[in-house]
Amino acid sequence: MEVIESRVDTRSAEFKKNEQAMRSLVADLKAELQRAHMDRSDKAQKRHTSQGKLPVEERLERLLDPDAPFLEIAPLAARGMYDGRVHGAGSLAGIGRVAGREVMVTANDARIKGGTIYPMGVKKTLRCQTIAMENRLPAISLVDSGGAFLPLQSELFPDIDDGGRVFYNQAIMSKLGISQITCVMGLCTAGAAYIPAMSDHAVHVNRTGAIFLGGPPLVRAATGEEVSAEELGGARVHCSESGVSDYFAEDDAHALAIVRDLVALLPPAHKTRIPTREPAEPLYDPAEIYGIVPESLATPYDVREVLARMVDGSEFHEFKRDYGPTLVCGWAYLHGMQVGILGNNGVLFSESSLKATQFIQLCDRDGVPLIFLQNINGYMIGREYERGGITKDGHKMVNAVATATVPKLTVIVGASFGAGNYGMCGRAYGPRFLWMWPNARIGVMGPEQAAAVLVSVKNDQLAREGLPPMSEEDKAAIQEPIRQAAEQEGSAYHSTANLWDDGILDPARTRDVLALGLSAALNAPLRSEPWGYGIFRM
Ligand code: COA
Repeated sequence: MEVIESRVDTRSAEFKKNEQAMRSLVADLKAELQRAHMDRSDKAQKRHTSQGKLPVEERLERLLDPDAPFLEIAPLAARGMYDGRVHGAGSLAGIGRVAGREVMVTANDARIKGGTIYPMGVKKTLRCQTIAMENRLPAISLVDSGGAFLPLQSELFPDIDDGGRVFYNQAIMSKLGISQITCVMGLCTAGAAYIPAMSDHAVHVNRTGAIFLGGPPLVRAATGEEVSAEELGGARVHCSESGVSDYFAEDDAHALAIVRDLVALLPPAHKTRIPTREPAEPLYDPAEIYGIVPESLATPYDVREVLARMVDGSEFHEFKRDYGPTLVCGWAYLHGMQVGILGNNGVLFSESSLKATQFIQLCDRDGVPLIFLQNINGYMIGREYERGGITKDGHKMVNAVATATVPKLTVIVGASFGAGNYGMCGRAYGPRFLWMWPNARIGVMGPEQAAAVLVSVKNDQLAREGLPPMSEEDKAAIQEPIRQAAEQEGSAYHSTANLWDDGILDPARTRDVLALGLSAALNAPLRSEPWGYGIFRM
C-alpha cells in the first residue's frame, strides 16, 4: 500500500491558526466532560456515601479490568436540558472489559436527583441496549434509581420509544442470547423492578438495594400497610424468600466482585475475524489534525491529510483516485484491522456517488467494515446536475449505505447537511457508532441557506398576491430567528445533548476510538442480515 505523503506545512501561519482554534474547542470539550463527571452537590455526595454506597465512577473502576480502555457512550447527553445538571442524562455508560470480555455497562448516578430517569435517560438506555444488541455485547446494569422523574412522567412513559421499551428490549435481548446481569445497588421501584427481574442474573446489595413494584409510601397510601423498604424488597427478602434476586451481596464491592465472576463464567465470545496485520502508528502525529482542519467549515481541505494521521503507517490504498474526486475511498488498517474508508473532499456529484456505491459493494461483499468521515454540504444541485441524474445516482449511494451488511462506523468531522448526511451514513443509516468532532455542524441546511430559502418563499408568495417584496426590516424579522435556531441547534453540543451521536471526540483520539468501536462490533457476526441489495435506479 502507498504511504500518504503529507503536503501540509506545519510551520505555516494558517496551520498555527487552525491549530489554535481546534485546541480551544478541545479544551472546551475537556472542560465540559470534567463538569459532567464531577459536578455533584455536596449534599447528594454526602447522602450517597453516608449510606455506604460507592460513587458510580468507583463502581465502574471495581467492575472493569484495570488498565483496559473504556469507551464512554453519550457522556454529554441531556447537556443544558432540565436544570442543566442532569449530566450524562443521569447515568454513566460505556463499553469496557470485564474478565477480558467486552461488555456494555450502564450505571445510574444516584447523586443526580436520586438517579431518577428523565426522558433523555430513557433514550440513553435504549441506545445502550441497541449497542448491546447490534454488537452482541453482554449487558451489565448497575441500578440505583428513584425510577421515573415524576414531574416529566408523561414524556417518558407511554410511547413506543419510552420507558416500556427498555423491558421489551430486555426480553428480546434474552431471546437473542445476549447475557444480561443486573446489580441492584439502590432502589428498583415500579417499572424499574423489571430491570433485575428480566435479567439473567440479579445480584442484590444488602441494606441499600431494594426491589418493589410499589415503594413504602405507595403501599401506605394504597393499603395503609406500614412497611420499611428493607422488609418490602431488601436483599434478604428477594434472595431467600421471593427468588426475585439470585445473589446476596454484603456491600457494593462484594456485589461487583460477583458480577465479575458471572461475566467470567459466560460462554466465550466468538469474535468475527476480519483481515488483520501487525498494528502500526501513523507516520504523522494525530494531533496535527488540529492544524489541518480549517477553522471555517466553508474552507476546503484534503481529507487525505486527516487519513495520514489516522491510519496505520499512514498507508492507504486508494480506489478510483481520479474519478469522482470529491469523495476519497480506499482501504487501510486501523490498529491492525482492515477497513474501507470513505471521506468527503467536497460536494457529492454523480461520479462520486457512483464510486461510493461501487466501493461500498466491494467492501460489503469482501467483509471489510466501513468507516465514513463525514464533511458534506450535500449533493450537487442545479439544472445541469438534475439533468445528469444526480438524484438517481445519489439514490444508489444512499441505497448501498442503507443495505450494506458489514459494520459501519461514522465520524462527522465537519459539515453534515441535507441528504449528504444520509449518503455518508448518518444516524438513521444504522452505523454501529457515530461520533462528532467539536467543530462539526449538523442540519437540513446551514443557517444562511435556511434563512435565504424562507425569504425567497415569502417574496414569491407576495409576488403572487401582487404585493411588493419584503423590506430589509421584514426580511431580518424572518431571517434572524431561523438563523439563530440553525446556529444553536446545528452545534455538536446540541447533537450530543439530544443523543443524535454517541459522543464528541477529541480529533486526535479518532483512530483509537474507532478501533475500540470496531473491536466491539466484531463481537457480532460480520453481517447483520443476508447480503444483497435492492433495486438500483439506472
Ligand atoms: N421523581 C422526581 N424527583 C425525585 C424522585 C422521583 N421519582 N425520587 C427522588 N427525587 C428527587 C428528590 O426530590 C430529591 O431532589 P432534591 O435533591 O432537589 O431535593 C432528589 O431526587 C434526591 O432524593 P432524596 O430522597 O433526597 O435522596 P435519597 O438518597 O434519600 O433517596 C430515593 C433517593 C430514590 C431512594 C428516594 O428519593 C425515593 O424513594 N424516591 C421515590 C421512588 C419512587 O417511588 N419512584 C416511583 C417512580 S416510578
